[in-house]
Amino acid sequence: MSFYPSYLLCLCLGVLCVVFVSFWNAQWRGGFAWDGTGKQFNWHPVFMVTGLVVLYGNAAVLYRVPLTWGQNKTPWKLVHAGTLLLALILSVLGLCAVFDFHNAQNTPNVYSLHSWIGICTVALFTSQWVVGFAAFLLPWSPVELRKLIKPTHVWMGAIILVLSIISCISGINEKLFFSLKGNVNGTQPYAKLPSEALFANSLGVLIVVFGLVVLYILSNQGWQRPEPNHDGEGYRPLQHEES
Ligand code: HEM
Repeated sequence: MSFYPSYLLCLCLGVLCVVFVSFWNAQWRGGFAWDGTGKQFNWHPVFMVTGLVVLYGNAAVLYRVPLTWGQNKTPWKLVHAGTLLLALILSVLGLCAVFDFHNAQNTPNVYSLHSWIGICTVALFTSQWVVGFAAFLLPWSPVELRKLIKPTHVWMGAIILVLSIISCISGINEKLFFSLKGNVNGTQPYAKLPSEALFANSLGVLIVVFGLVVLYILSNQGWQRPEPNHDGEGYRPLQHEES
């Protein structure tokens, strides 16, 4: 199968995830503000899905785009690191939104399973970015170190995406249980599957499918960027290359 249909699917699913998470919060959760109310919380899912899933996933598959193969790798490394930095900034803003909201409402912090997995995901992502920057972008980092780190960097990259998706699914589920309580706040209960629940469940499915497409692209050996073999034996896959 050729690369581009999968890549197009990845791009379309990414856009749909951002549209769905924004529409859910605008349509059913009262929209957005930065004032310590539920409207501030609403930035949390939007920033987390956009940063840690959509931007992250697209940055992960960047080197697989054949259009980039014949070119110098350094600018693409900068695009990869820059997109991931933007993803990291959005995730930190997403965390600020929810911590600030909890503090304003006197709600305890980091008590749920969702928050534990979420915190670990962002911590792993931050360390992955710092180590990746130091090892692959700083010109004085030794080639041997790059060779050593690369397989772990690739493996950790996929693991962080999986953890982000688990965080999003558990977060969506938790939010629906908190919000759709039937008679208590004038909404229909989650178990009756009101339109909001149907929509947010579909967002969860979209996020999972997006993640599977990214992992499929990453796992396809034939779509790895060919790198010059310095022994003069032609090309060998990215994973065995030094940077
Ligand atoms: C990668 C994605 C995500 C990460 C890393 C993440 C992380 C976190 C963290 C660390 C907290 C705890 C904040 C505190 O204790 O003050 C939290 C809270 C929360 N998040 Fe997320 N989140 C993510 C996505 C989502 C999504 C998509 C939703 C859907 C609405 C969501 C819903 C919630 C809810 C309802 C809370 C408040 C209750 C609680 O602390 O568990 N999260 N999130």
